[in-house]
Formats: sequence, structure tokens, C-alpha cells
Amino acid sequence: MTQGHDPVTPGAGRVAVYSAAARALHWITVAAVFVMIPLGFAMTYRGNTLDIWDGVTDALYSSHKLLGFLVLWLSAGRLLYRLLHGAPPDEPTLEWWQKAASHLVHWALYGLLLIVPLLGWIGVSLFPSLMVFNLFELPALAAPNEEVAKRVLSVHGWLAILLALLVCAHIGAALFHYLIRKDGVLRRMLPGLSRR
Ligand code: HEM
Ligand code: HEM
Repeated sequence: MTQGHDPVTPGAGRVAVYSAAARALHWITVAAVFVMIPLGFAMTYRGNTLDIWDGVTDALYSSHKLLGFLVLWLSAGRLLYRLLHGAPPDEPTLEWWQKAASHLVHWALYGLLLIVPLLGWIGVSLFPSLMVFNLFELPALAAPNEEVAKRVLSVHGWLAILLALLVCAHIGAALFHYLIRKDGVLRRMLPGLSRR
């Protein structure tokens, strides 16, 4: 079985780095989530708050449903890859609590990357509002029930906020390691980065 990491990358200053596949999956997920969270707020603001239900709002919802659906499968594939191939050993200079905290946040991120889009999909199944760009419908996961749909989509929204907060903490930690602690953590995901 191939490893989920490259043991040593000379150009990176001898830190164990994530494999090219793990890095690609990480950065594609980052790009998608950076679009999905503002898109979610923009569409509900335009629809629910401003009460504008035109073609633009419809396109925002369709984009959110489609991209979110893709994030779900991307995350499932990524988690499978992670479980099969593992990760590089922890950065050797980390304190025990830094290792524990980072593992906790990473597994919480994996969990939310699955649960948030899954609840969105269940929510639009219950509503029902499965149409995407007037072209095709997502498969339904539940029979229509508007009351339950509203509750599921509310939990979806709150967990998306939790995801955003964890992502902020995660980015803060990455920058702390690179700029203040000056260790090799960020170069595990960005091997091309210069040493600090
Ligand atoms: C990683 C994936 C996803 C993220 C980060 C995300 C994030 C969000 C956010 C931030 C909101 C706004 C919440 C609010 O204003 O209270 C939202 C709303 C919504 N999302 Fe998602 N979402 C994702 C996937 C999905 C998927 C896959 C679907 C459906 C197939 C979906 C359907 C919806 C719907 C229908 C709403 C509007 C709920 C309402 O009107 O109250 N989302 N999402
Ligand atoms: C939506 C945003 C993001 C999500 C959902 C996310 C998710 C994750 C996950 C799940 C891992 C664990 C990988 C594994 O062990 O299999 C990880 C690792 C990592 N991420 Fe992110 N990430 C995000 C944004 C970022 C950003 C913007 C940076 C850089 C500023 C970053 C830097 C890192 C680093 C350096 C690691 C490796 C940590 C280590 O193992 O020592 N991430 N990320």
C-alpha cells in the first residue's frame, strides 16, 4: 500500500509532508468551503431576509446545493484516503497538548465536512427543493415534511457556523506555527514554503 505521506522532502527542510494526493484534496476542500460558507449566508440573506426570490437567488441556491453535494463526496473520498493511507508522523517539536488539540480539530473538521452537507441534502429532500439550475434534481433522501425540513436546515446552518469557527482556529494555529513558533507544521501541507 502506498503511504499517505512523503517521509522526507529535502526541499522542505527535512519535514515529513503530506502526500501530493492528500495535499491536493486538502486545498481543493479549502477552496470549496471558502465559497460555500459566504454563498450560504448570501443566498439566505437575499431570499429569507430581503425576500427576493428571483433568478439570481435561485442560481445562488442551485450553486450552493450542487457544490455542497460535490463537497460531500469529495470529503467522503478524502476521509477514506486518510483512513487507508494515514498521515505523516506528528511534527517532532510539538508539545503533547498541541498534538492532542490538532488531532481533535482535524477529526472534528472531517466530521463536519460530512455532516454539514449531508444535513443540507436531507433538508432539501424534506422541504422538498431538490432542483438544481432547472436542469436536474438531486436524489431524495427523505419524504417531504416542511416542518422537519426547517429544523434540519437550521441545524445545518448552526453546524456550518461551527465549521467556520473551527476553520478560523485551524488557520490561526497554522499561522502561529509558521510565524511565531517557526516550526515545520505549515510546510507539511505546503512543502514549497520557505523556512522561517
Ligand atoms: C460543506 C458544505 C456546506 C456548507 C459549508 C454549507 C453552509 C451553509 C450556510 C453557512 C448556510 C446559511 C445558514 C444560515 O443563514 O442560517 C447554508 C444554508 C443552506 N444550505 Fe448549506 N452548506 C453546505 C452544503 C449544503 C448542501 C449539500 C445542501 C443541499 C443539497 C445545502 C442546502 C442549504 C440550504 C437549502 C440552505 C438554506 C437554509 C435556510 O433557508 O434556512 N447546503 N448552508
Ligand atoms: C476550509 C478550510 C480548511 C479545512 C476544512 C481544513 C481541514 C484540514 C484537515 C481535516 C486536516 C487534517 C489532515 C489529515 O491529517 O488528514 C488539515 C491539516 C492541515 N491544514 Fe487545513 N483545512 C483548512 C484550511 C487550511 C488553511 C487555510 C491552512 C493554512 C493556512 C491549513 C493548513 C493545514 C496544515 C498545515 C495541516 C497539517 C497539520 C499537521 O498535520 O501538522 N488548512 N486541514
